Amino acid sequence: MYLSHVTLNNYRNYSSLGLDLSPGLNVFTGKNAQGKTNFLEAVYFTSIGRSMRTPRDKELIAWGSEKARIRSDVVGRGGKSRVEIVLDKNEKKRVAIGGAQVSKMGELMGVIMTVLFSPDEIAIIKQGPGERRRFMDIAICQLSRAYFYLLTRYNKILSQRNSLLKSKADASTLDVWDIQLAQTGAKVIKTRRGFIARLNELANKNHEFLTNGKESLSLCYEGIDGNSEEEITQNFLNSLKKVRDKDLLHGYTHVGAQTDDFGAMVGDVDVRKFGSQGQQRTVALSLKLAQLDLFYEETGEYPVLLLDDVFSELDVSRQQKLVQKIDGFQTIITCTHVEEVLQEYFKDAKFFSVTSGQITEKGGK
Ligand SMILES: Nc1ncnc2c1ncn2[C@@H]1O[C@H](COP(=O)(O)OP(=O)(O)OP(=O)(O)O)[C@@H](O)[C@H]1O
Ligand SMILES: [Mg+2]
Repeated sequence: MYLSHVTLNNYRNYSSLGLDLSPGLNVFTGKNAQGKTNFLEAVYFTSIGRSMRTPRDKELIAWGSEKARIRSDVVGRGGKSRVEIVLDKNEKKRVAIGGAQVSKMGELMGVIMTVLFSPDEIAIIKQGPGERRRFMDIAICQLSRAYFYLLTRYNKILSQRNSLLKSKADASTLDVWDIQLAQTGAKVIKTRRGFIARLNELANKNHEFLTNGKESLSLCYEGIDGNSEEEITQNFLNSLKKVRDKDLLHGYTHVGAQTDDFGAMVGDVDVRKFGSQGQQRTVALSLKLAQLDLFYEETGEYPVLLLDDVFSELDVSRQQKLVQKIDGFQTIITCTHVEEVLQEYFKDAKFFSVTSGQITEKGGK
């Protein structure tokens, strides 16, 4: 799928923008602080319904304005569609798909599929399990609205249980919630396990490609054991029993899908702990490219690849590998300048220049 047109009004430093994009490669260049990342963020927002930079939507409204509007026109196998999001300082955000308002954010999942890679994405490897869960959950949600609603339900049950723990509810009340949490959590965990198993193979292929066959990568889900939903539910319940006293003491749930993680090994080395900076960055990129391949396998079409300022952080060999991979799907790249070694790969690209919240097409191509 690809975005044909993006319209922004009073979004960050864009007061008014309307832009036609190429279904292939789009390269946005500009000095620092001109609005390159803001533009990618807007596209990402129409895909996921939230920013990759802040959980506070209102920060996206241009300073001094009351309301922001972001619109992406998308063309895919299923035809054309349009996602429009309106942010208002005093109201809840409004989302419309194909002109019809939707009340649940889950409906947005899969309409515009994107994979984002930026220097910040190294956090998936470098930082705590929360970042890795976020990566898994966003990727799976884009593939499955059912998973989005499942996760919402799980989080609601979890917060209910935590409130009960804080109010020192009696054992029989907690027992009822334990069953609900374990049954819903088992579905979440089973889905994530399946996702990591599929991603593992694709991530290794991409990692071998990026490192010229010098390194291999393996991923492994770390959480409550079990293959079937029943097995996971049972193990989950047993774990909840074991930690009940601790849970009551601290007022929150110590085990479950909300604490799970996945490991990433390069050879025998756990890159989360012992990887070099460049190695961690490459692993994060391998995961993102694997996500792209997985989306293609699942849906029969590629998502839109968003690359924010990534070339300066990679060595020349990896830069070249990455641009070789970008072929046959829409890619939106931002950078301050195009390195000479990459220029031949970008010869068919549509170029844009970004200056103080205005974007112009370069060279009239
Ligand atoms: N809500 C807002 N309203 C108006 N301007 C904003 C808002 N939020 C951020 N900005 C401004 O947008 C400008 C551009 O930010 P952006 O992150 O897109 O820059 P960039 O072109 O990606 O730069 P860099 O090359 O440094 O990454 C910043 O200077 C910031 O102050
Ligand atoms: Mg930027």
